[in-house]
Amino acid sequence: MMGNRSYRVAMTGTGAYLPPKILTNKDLEKMVDTTDEWIVKRTGIKERRIVESGVAASDLASKAALMALKDARVSPKDVQLIITSTITPDSLFPSTSCYVQQKIGATDAGAFDVLAACAGFIYALSIGQNYVRAGLDNVLVIGSECLSTVVDYEDRSTCILFGDGAGAILLQRMNGKGSPEVLSTFLGADGKYADVLGIPAGGSKIPSSSKSIKDRLHYIKFRGREVFKLAIQNLTKVMKKTIDSSGYKVDDFSMFILHQSNFRIIEATMERMNIPKEKAFLNIEKYGNTSSASIPIAIDEVKKSGKLKSGDLVLLAAFGGGLTWSSSVIRW
Ligand code: COA
Repeated sequence: MMGNRSYRVAMTGTGAYLPPKILTNKDLEKMVDTTDEWIVKRTGIKERRIVESGVAASDLASKAALMALKDARVSPKDVQLIITSTITPDSLFPSTSCYVQQKIGATDAGAFDVLAACAGFIYALSIGQNYVRAGLDNVLVIGSECLSTVVDYEDRSTCILFGDGAGAILLQRMNGKGSPEVLSTFLGADGKYADVLGIPAGGSKIPSSSKSIKDRLHYIKFRGREVFKLAIQNLTKVMKKTIDSSGYKVDDFSMFILHQSNFRIIEATMERMNIPKEKAFLNIEKYGNTSSASIPIAIDEVKKSGKLKSGDLVLLAAFGGGLTWSSSVIRW
């Protein structure tokens, strides 16, 4: 299956699935001490989607994956590898990708998950890109999250931000038919800041116990202002590095798809990079922060909008718990 030459990598199919249930800022006003005005002003979010009880990350992922396969006119049986990025897996193991493999009927595929929090989709993309470069075909790269299952709806500083959703992209060898091409991917991390953002309990360090539940340690915790600053610093750093090593100039890029974490983080990063704000993709007002899912949902939305033309350059960039960051150059 693996060849000796390096193949070019195309995104031949995209799909996104957002659960139908909407949680608005007005709904949150009834749950915690907050206002629609505060949330919009500080984050840009108006509403987010959340799953019904019992719906898992693999359910959203499978729907998005089937859409991506349909878009590329590829049968699930021809998928060779499934890589899902998620911080809300169906279970600690088996991987969410294994559930997806079964649900979509990808009977010939290998399957595993990637954990790099909100930067995870581009991490997964880089793995998929390298498998396709090496000769594998039909690699499904997915970002899927049910963040509502790990959000503390009694904590106003975190619960306003997050939403659920999934996006999927099919990677294939470039065949000259004008699909977006993954030119490069760039990854970074700094574990020194591991404690600024994460879910403290449920792993080997703090296994689940009645105390961990009582202390509400199974929910997302962050130090908001610190994360805010680190996000802007590291997004700027990784975007500069990725652009410098691409051989292109910042002005050559038509669109910047940044992880939808907070519109103020996106705006401040664009400002620091001296890029006109209009070049930033934004859909955070509809979905909030969907972690791993935000970049593939955005790519699917951009593709369907027809806003970009063949040959346009797009920069993807994301930042998340770990800390992790990642970026990618796409030629549309
Ligand atoms: N409604 C109303 N007031 C709120 C509130 C809410 N939902 N949440 C916090 N506040 C209050 C705070 O208590 C604080 O009050 P004080 O000044 O009396 O202490 C005030 O609003 C300002 O809080 P602060 O945390 O400084 O606000 P902020 O402008 O930094 O915005 C975040 C808060 C969380 C939106 C912002 O810091 C953020 O987006 N950080 C990144 C979060 C993150 O980790 N995202 C994931 C990254 S991938």
